[in-house]
Amino acid sequence: MTALSVSTSSAASLRADALVVGVAKGPKGIVLAPGAEAVNEAFDGKLAEVLGTLGATGAEGETVKVASPAGLKAALVLAVGLGEAAEGGYELEALRRAAGVAARALAGVKKAALALPAESAEEVEAVALGGLLGSYVFGTYKGNGNGKEPVGELVVLTVRKGSKDAKAAVERAAAIGEEMNRARDLVNTAPNDLTPKSFAAIAQAAGKEHGLKVEVLDEKALTKGGFGGLLGVGNGSANPPRLVKVAYTHPKAKASLAFVGKGITYDSGGISLKPAGHNETMKCDMAGAAAVFAAVVAAKRLGLAVNVTAWLALAENMPSGSATRPGDVLRMYGGKTVEVLNTDAEGRLVLADAIVKAGEDNPDVIVDVATLTGAMVMALGTRTFGVMANSDELRENLHALAGEVGEQSWPMPLPAELKKGMTDSTIADLANMGERMGGGLVAGLFLQEFVAEGIDWAHLDIAGPAFHESAPFGYTPKGGTASAVRTLVRFAEQTAANGKA
Ligand code: BES
Ligand code: MN
Ligand code: ZN
Repeated sequence: MTALSVSTSSAASLRADALVVGVAKGPKGIVLAPGAEAVNEAFDGKLAEVLGTLGATGAEGETVKVASPAGLKAALVLAVGLGEAAEGGYELEALRRAAGVAARALAGVKKAALALPAESAEEVEAVALGGLLGSYVFGTYKGNGNGKEPVGELVVLTVRKGSKDAKAAVERAAAIGEEMNRARDLVNTAPNDLTPKSFAAIAQAAGKEHGLKVEVLDEKALTKGGFGGLLGVGNGSANPPRLVKVAYTHPKAKASLAFVGKGITYDSGGISLKPAGHNETMKCDMAGAAAVFAAVVAAKRLGLAVNVTAWLALAENMPSGSATRPGDVLRMYGGKTVEVLNTDAEGRLVLADAIVKAGEDNPDVIVDVATLTGAMVMALGTRTFGVMANSDELRENLHALAGEVGEQSWPMPLPAELKKGMTDSTIADLANMGERMGGGLVAGLFLQEFVAEGIDWAHLDIAGPAFHESAPFGYTPKGGTASAVRTLVRFAEQTAANGKA
């Protein structure tokens, strides 16, 4: 894992292998971003000219490398593009992305210093977090020498004097970034290695490490408790389901949040089998569970004065002689019956059990996070998650918070008339499928049926952004992204600060 620190040393005197500076598109060609002053001096004030000659334009995502002149301890200078020059300071997301691009470009390097704009504590945190997320490499299965090591150490340089809050900012970035990278590891782990049982064991180990209370319901306990959704989805698999509760409590907490994650460790579709072309990335179907898990651990590491409980609804959706059939009726936790018309609409079944269970603790708010529908990807593309809720205020708040932390989201409605297809089941309380049109909203409406009266609830459909298949950009690598983690952590922070959700 990449080590993160902060320093007020001059870029010129710091011992490192590489120095990162920011460049941007000015009105008359490229301009250096704040932070690059000492490096520019070592170039006799000609750094922008040198970089321009090497082809730098300042465009977002661009990197240009140049050998250092005498006067710099580091051998290499890496210039990273920030996009349009910003007189009044760069957007935090531009800083995160630039730091991420630089960290990725420096994979294999031992120690790099980031001489990017970092005056305020927020800027220091953004550079640190972007750097940590961009350094991410998933190396579990690559043989020695086949994969690059992540950059070993990142030093965030800041002009901020009395660096106490700069240090705190870097620690915050480490708590959030390391847990996000852990969530990415979980998503990227092959589904033959990450099963409901092994995921539960990882949660238990993390609980021990961080002092969180972890309870695991195995298939026996689930049967005894009547968790028909989790059992119905899991019963086609040789790897039985689990429901995991990870609880963080703070003595001064005035509010409690429940985060519920969809944890399908592999979604084959079950008897309604997905065709080739649709199942290759379905190890990512536990990204919601990974996100809520990362969020509760981060909340603990940050010591937030709020109670946060993560619920991981873990199952593997497989076809077999014991699998649930289209036509079967499941009795869900809490007693509602569901006719399964399509076994590929499994996420809502495991979530329904977990939402009912989470509701029994009477939290102020339930937020579920799920790679729930292809329809949401159709609607919003691959970088934006949909936000649905039974409260306008909560939906708008989560959408706004996501924007603050650099996550793209969009509010989506829950139109009551779309419920009809589901409540039309001739033999059960609900069918697990309804109208095809607006499928993402239909799934949200299904979940809403399982939220207890009086509890505010929101649903984040992260099917698009959870798993990134095209070229890396900013701090986003290929594969697992840890989508929604920052939004959840920010929500927990806001709840702690306000003393209410
Ligand atoms: N896990 C999928 C949704 C998904 C699709 C996630 C693409 C990530 C990328 C989910 O379980 C699913 O199969 N949903 C069906 C629901 C349908 C059968 C009502 C879908 O979206 O097609
Ligand atoms: Mn499915
Ligand atoms: Zn699924």
